[in-house]
Amino acid sequence: MKKLSWILFSLLAIVAIALTACGPKAEEPAQPAATEAPAQPAATEAPAQPAAGGKQVEVFSWWTGGGEAAGLEAMIKVFKAKYPDIEFINAAVAGGAGTNARAVLASRLQAGDPPDSWQGHAGQELIGTYVAGNQIQPLNDLYESEGWLEVMPETLIPLISDNGNIYSVPVNIHRANVLWYNPKILADNNIAVPTTIDEWLAAMETLKGAGVQPLALGEQWTKMHLLETVLLGTLGPDAYNGLWTGTTDWGSPEVKVALDNYAKILTYANSDSASLSWQDAAQLVVNGDAAFNVMGDWAEGYFRELGKTPETDYGWAPVPGSVGVFQFLSDSFVLAVGAPDPEAAVAWLKIAGSKEGQEAFNPVKGSICARTDCDKALFGVYLQSAMDDWASNIVVGSLTHGVVANDSWKSEIDTALGLFIQNGDVDAFQSALVAACKASGPCK
Ligand code: GAL
Repeated sequence: MKKLSWILFSLLAIVAIALTACGPKAEEPAQPAATEAPAQPAATEAPAQPAAGGKQVEVFSWWTGGGEAAGLEAMIKVFKAKYPDIEFINAAVAGGAGTNARAVLASRLQAGDPPDSWQGHAGQELIGTYVAGNQIQPLNDLYESEGWLEVMPETLIPLISDNGNIYSVPVNIHRANVLWYNPKILADNNIAVPTTIDEWLAAMETLKGAGVQPLALGEQWTKMHLLETVLLGTLGPDAYNGLWTGTTDWGSPEVKVALDNYAKILTYANSDSASLSWQDAAQLVVNGDAAFNVMGDWAEGYFRELGKTPETDYGWAPVPGSVGVFQFLSDSFVLAVGAPDPEAAVAWLKIAGSKEGQEAFNPVKGSICARTDCDKALFGVYLQSAMDDWASNIVVGSLTHGVVANDSWKSEIDTALGLFIQNGDVDAFQSALVAACKASGPCK
């Protein structure tokens, strides 16, 4: 810390982190939900100051509550048993999909104060942000020593690699395009699980007529999550992929149909969505207060934490229109450039990539292992079906969770979506999406 500017930068960053840790900023409309833990390191964790000479690893994520913290704790337990002399600092910051956490992380990185390791999504988020910014270190040696190339899916390696270097350790595979439903509500209203968007719209119309809340929806990122699944469900996997590679025109009539579908689907959602977290929205389904919710399969981890029973309290299906397609994302952990304790960080990464770590984490988190050698018997009925689908379906990537678009493109899409939610103007939305692809995507 030789330079004054660096000290000032650090102070600013500390203030920024402290402000975020104290709660949402005034300009953020979506309040952290009651179900989520406060935006502070978990109370059970050790203080952030190392004992003199002691080794410690600070791991940053957004897994603080609702099924997510429990998954992380299960992996931390494996870590502590294997490395009892390394203090584990859980620097998780609350907020689904990392909405708050990623802002805190960005200020820390900018201030030269990285955690040793953090959660990043395989795909454009990792490569376009952290690799492009020289913020993370290649892990090829670790892949070699741990034999990970033999056990990690071949399809995943390119999404975490750049120029022959591998940059992260995937802990899981999540599915984004899941339609969760309340089986009793559907049975009571004689509704079959919809497989096409038209069937879904008809089902929701029937439910509305019967006085049932058709769709549960939460804060803005969950609306982007819904949007990506409706784009997939309307366009199909090839044209959906083309949105991200430049071969599908965002201004085309097909995309207009998808956006019209999206607009119609939104009319069946709860009016208080802006103030609900993903957990709040998903809970409406298992509590019998809404029929459908579209959410990634971390919702399953939450349902289990609530003590709900699969197939009785909740059912699942691919989002209508996307049968046979697995829209995926993968959480992975990185090694920071300038990690305060790189050795301890590597110890953490070894657990994150291990069979034991992944088998402890995933059945609780509601995801399947990134590794291909986990014991299927450890997983419940939903996750076993996800494993089958992952192995047999067409696989496409998620927008909201970092696979297909870089951060700037995603943020422009998010801005366009925010406006659309306010004004409902589909044509203006489509024009803004065309412009976003030109500004930051492959449509230049
Ligand atoms: C995703 C993340 C999942 C889950 C979800 C909700 O971005 O990959 O692991 O945490 O957000 O918070």
